[in-house]
Amino acid sequence: MDSSEYLVMLLRLTKRALEEYNNWGENEIYRPTHEELSKKQTFDYQISEAKNMLEVLNKKVNICRNCSLGNNRLKAVFGVGSPNASLMFIGEGPGYDEDHKGYPFVGKSGQLLTKIIEAMGQTRETVYITNIVKCHPMIDPLNPEKRSNDRPPTFEEIKACKPYLDMQIEIINPKVIVTLGAFSTKSILNTEEPISKIRGNFREYKNIKLMPTYHPSAILRNSNLKKFIWEDMKKVIHSIEDIRET
Ligand code: SF4
Ligand code: URA
Repeated sequence: MDSSEYLVMLLRLTKRALEEYNNWGENEIYRPTHEELSKKQTFDYQISEAKNMLEVLNKKVNICRNCSLGNNRLKAVFGVGSPNASLMFIGEGPGYDEDHKGYPFVGKSGQLLTKIIEAMGQTRETVYITNIVKCHPMIDPLNPEKRSNDRPPTFEEIKACKPYLDMQIEIINPKVIVTLGAFSTKSILNTEEPISKIRGNFREYKNIKLMPTYHPSAILRNSNLKKFIWEDMKKVIHSIEDIRET
């Protein structure tokens, strides 16, 4: 068993222990009263556990060298937001700004993503934002200080990094995932269909609803695409509201 498999196993066990903790009391002689084990306490406990698990994973990503991107990154970019988010955004990979700051979507396309999130009635703190690879894919990997040195991640890099994303999804367990752009959509759904064909219709990943849409940087290049992303995000908002009501 390698160390990432070990971590998955550890996370699963912790989750299972948590579930058992939540059901605890059903067949016990001593049952905690509602005051002792109120729903809020359980909820807070779950959030703090998810937060702890994400912190452990973040530390692991920060020292990861499972693909060559780990050799030249300035900072690994794990993800930001709520451990309890209903909505998770998945981009392609860190660029120059993200590599320097250590946070996802903090450059130009990040500013646009932040506006989209806010137009949806959410904030960067209430949703969760990450990428399919956690380190900066560079055209010239020896030159992290160079601008316009970004490239999409390769199949091998995505494959090496995917267990981290899957663990983030498992811990956060969002109601809806939004994949931003062709690379994250295609690699998560395992499809070759063009983003222009698959965007706008819900798919599923690990029993979670997934909405593929354009990457914000595509909108920066072609403002005609803005209306499509907004159409897609309206479906996402309605879907979260429907799930909340049921
Ligand atoms: Fe590890 Fe992912 Fe960074 Fe590759 S991109 S070194 S797999 S964290
Ligand atoms: N583009 C991405 O796909 N991810 C980022 O974090 C920044 C830009």
